Amino acid sequence: MQSYEKLLLENKAWAKEQNQIDPDFFKRLAAQQAPEFLWIGCSDSRVPADKITGTDPGEIFVHRNIANLVVNTDINLLSVLQYAVEVLKVRHVIVCGHYGCGGVKAAMGNHHFGIINHWLKEIKDVYRFHRAEVDALATEEQRADLLVELNVREQVFNLAKTSIIQKAWKEDNLPHLHGWAYGLKDGIIKPVCEMAARSRIDHLYEYDNL
Ligand code: CO
Repeated sequence: MQSYEKLLLENKAWAKEQNQIDPDFFKRLAAQQAPEFLWIGCSDSRVPADKITGTDPGEIFVHRNIANLVVNTDINLLSVLQYAVEVLKVRHVIVCGHYGCGGVKAAMGNHHFGIINHWLKEIKDVYRFHRAEVDALATEEQRADLLVELNVREQVFNLAKTSIIQKAWKEDNLPHLHGWAYGLKDGIIKPVCEMAARSRIDHLYEYDNL
């Protein structure tokens, strides 16, 4: 059997089991989704949003990219964010990075990996903002781990700066923003930072006609 054929076989078994546990499961989910969370995570195959949070289909709206970045020219991210916030009305947006992130490590080095370096430039900027704090740590691993957390903080801040979040905060007093970091070594998520709805940020990013 080909490896991909096993996926289809596993899928059939999963659907059958799900039907046995909850006969209305697919009927209910096919009718609508009402997730409470938007998850912005790393594409890394070791960090599956639903599995590590014990959530079921229908509970988390997911966007993943390399190193969980919130780039305000990324039409993909912005579309997901707008839909999640304005249509699904999610209560929480979670940016979840992870220790041992290859994207973060690559951004700390000087090897050119091609087009991905354009993407990782965002993390180089985060490193530059916090250069002294990161470089003060003794080992490469400690520096990378701290940059993972600083990156998550920066991406949460990037979310707060978008007109989508600014508008939602004004109208609905939602969503709350969270920055988390997942440990590949122990499977534990560490909460890194939080921004309640209507948190004040630099006035520069606050629009008066939203
Ligand atoms: Co990663």
